Amino acid sequence: MTSPPSPADFARLPEAVAIIMDGNGRWAQERGLPRFKGHEVGAESVRAVTRECARLGIGELTLYAFSTENWRRPAQEVALLMTLLERYLVEERPEIMDNGIVFRAVGELDRLPASVQREYETTRAMSERNGGMVLRLALSYGGRRELLHAAQKVARVAVAEGLDAVERLGEDDLRQFLYDPTMRDPDLLIRTAGEMRVSNFLLWQASYAELHVADIAWPDFREAALHEALRAYGARARRFGGV
Ligand code: IPE
Ligand code: IPE
Ligand code: MG
Repeated sequence: MTSPPSPADFARLPEAVAIIMDGNGRWAQERGLPRFKGHEVGAESVRAVTRECARLGIGELTLYAFSTENWRRPAQEVALLMTLLERYLVEERPEIMDNGIVFRAVGELDRLPASVQREYETTRAMSERNGGMVLRLALSYGGRRELLHAAQKVARVAVAEGLDAVERLGEDDLRQFLYDPTMRDPDLLIRTAGEMRVSNFLLWQASYAELHVADIAWPDFREAALHEALRAYGARARRFGGV
């Protein structure tokens, strides 16, 4: 058996990675299973990918788990996803602590069921002083919502400090109004299940992210698929508009 790759085996590792975890439903349907099975196995991919990113020394991992648009799914599927999420928030605590992970969430968290909010708060507070990778779940998250909330905060600046103060705002000031001002822009944005769209994810933060679309569905996305994405990233030339 070959040993797992070390960070030095990659040409260049991203500091921050974000993933649109897609294809759970299709994965299940292809196997004649109910959609929720795909979500269940997808939770195992979350564990595997988180552990491997932490092991490789990636600084931040942001996972798109539930979008503002996902509230439109059938009530039964939404309820099931919330149950799975609550279970994850409780069961992952030892894993989070053992790996020194700092756990956070971004999104309209107040729309989540009260029990999910409670378990989230416990996990977040417990991991706050860890020194390892920051794991963020995007929950009830929408990029446009996030920017709308930022705009509303700018309006408050206008009322409190006047229009001149608003004119002086720079890009980094706007960042202070996003859900988590400490979040780094993702260097690498991965989407699974072959779909070539951003689906309202990190519209501000991903402006210069390198995109990697994996053809496999999220429940099948494990260490090997992650390594492939990281190798593809290492082979890219990032220009940021320069030459
Ligand atoms: C991703 O899988 C999980 C969530 C969006 C919550 P999907 O549930 O979107 O699976 P597909 O895209 O229907 O296969
Ligand atoms: C994006 O997946 C949202 C998450 C992964 C949480 P969707 O399955 O909801 O996106 P669309 O509908 O294909 O754009
Ligand atoms: Mg989908």
